[in-house]
Amino acid sequence: MRGEGGEEAPLRETMAALFLRQCGYRGDEPVVDPMCGSGTIVLEAAEMALGLPPGRGRRFAYQDLAVPVAAPAAPAPAPRDIALRFTGADRDSGAIQGAGANAARAGLEEVTTFLRQPVSELARPEGPPGLVMVNPPYGGRIGNKRQLFGLYNALGAVLLERFSGWRVGIVTSEAGLARATALPFAETGPPVAHGPLKIRLHRTDPLP
Ligand SMILES: C[S@@+](CC[C@H](N)C(=O)[O-])C[C@H]1O[C@@H](n2cnc3c(N)ncnc32)[C@H](O)[C@@H]1O
Repeated sequence: MRGEGGEEAPLRETMAALFLRQCGYRGDEPVVDPMCGSGTIVLEAAEMALGLPPGRGRRFAYQDLAVPVAAPAAPAPAPRDIALRFTGADRDSGAIQGAGANAARAGLEEVTTFLRQPVSELARPEGPPGLVMVNPPYGGRIGNKRQLFGLYNALGAVLLERFSGWRVGIVTSEAGLARATALPFAETGPPVAHGPLKIRLHRTDPLP
């Protein structure tokens, strides 16, 4: 979970990392999240690509304990130099502002782009194909079921039309919503607790 932005329950960084890994992400492809909220997926992918240690911004209570330290901490690894871009979009301007602020706090502005736009305007970035990873609204907290099915259907249509060669990972709480995308899912992951919900990853191979 990043500091700011996103109207709806953000994913924790650890969950974003888990779902990226389940999609086979190794940090060597671009990543796009068309409904990025606070930007957790995009920022986590950028950190993985740069080789930055997970949780480097987090502090733990034990760090303030006054105990003798046996050996100096290992120096942080130098970030890799990469040419990849990590792109998030969201129709909500507060989410985009928050994602940008989170990127700045994490020192990731140079490799990330956040755009305020609805999914209908999503464009394929120039360059090699990569991974679209998205955690759309689940319902319960927003909208009605019919709107949600329409949203997932529109997302699937945009990806099938514009993202040939890219892999897709969709994280959602209902298999029916994932099916509404009409994407050719290769695998569905195990359930993962997310507040009161159980969410799963639905992933494709490269789209035709
Ligand atoms: C569950 S939240 C994503 C949370 C995000 N993974 C995070 O960790 O912060 C879903 C997001 O979808 C966005 N959204 C809903 N409908 C959209 C649309 N038609 N186009 C773009 N974004 C949309 C919402 O504004 C919201 O930020």
